[in-house]
Amino acid sequence: MRKSFIAGNWKMYKTVQEAIELVTLLKRALSDIADIEVGVCPPFTALGEIAETLFESNITLGAQDVYWETEGAFTGEVSPAMLKDIGCMYCIVGHSERRKYFHETNDSVNRKLKALFTAGIKPIMCIGEILEEREAGQTFDVVKKQLEEGLSGITGAQMTDIVIAYEPVWAIGTGKTATPGQAQEVHQFIRQRLSQRFSAETAETVRIQYGGSVKPDNITDLMKQKDIDGALVGGASLKADSFVAIVKGALVTSDI
Ligand code: PGA
Repeated sequence: MRKSFIAGNWKMYKTVQEAIELVTLLKRALSDIADIEVGVCPPFTALGEIAETLFESNITLGAQDVYWETEGAFTGEVSPAMLKDIGCMYCIVGHSERRKYFHETNDSVNRKLKALFTAGIKPIMCIGEILEEREAGQTFDVVKKQLEEGLSGITGAQMTDIVIAYEPVWAIGTGKTATPGQAQEVHQFIRQRLSQRFSAETAETVRIQYGGSVKPDNITDLMKQKDIDGALVGGASLKADSFVAIVKGALVTSDI
């Protein structure tokens, strides 16, 4: 049985003080949640304080990016060991905003995944097609290539520790969510590919999150889909009320 995972991607929002305020509210409101894993991914500057605030809570911590080298003259970059040291359990890799604005490629995603494993951090690997690709009927080809290249050289044992976030780029921050059916179709395809590349058992253990305008009013229908195991939430994770409502709305069994 896969444990669903709802993670908040805070992007470039929240000062340290604002971050502490938000996470303090989340901790209080979500202290009873045990059936779903809940995580937050604040900006680098707030990670240390948030790790302390979350100490011994049921909310896990992730970063939004990493560099693949262990250390060195790489101004502005942060290593996997630094993230581990500060208390991160997860790290988002290959978010479409990083692919679009910061030249992230399937190859750099692959390097980052491997580097994260050396430090014992679990990657949340983002994939998804842009609008033109969907309209041209290329969604499956794009996702297939992102999986093939991004997961090159990854072992089956490592794969069980990777979370995949399927985020159709046209749905991110636009208010346009994929319908549950559209999302399920791609999630199912992703699981099939993982089954072919690794094994059916491995594919069954991998959690596949949906991302793209997830809100309190669409989470339940998304979560009812067989292959949707949680969500990566951007905008709606920045306010306690909406994030808490999403987590509560996700408390439905996925095999209804
Ligand atoms: P959104 O962002 O929920 O604001 O669409 C999702 C994401 O970028 O992970």
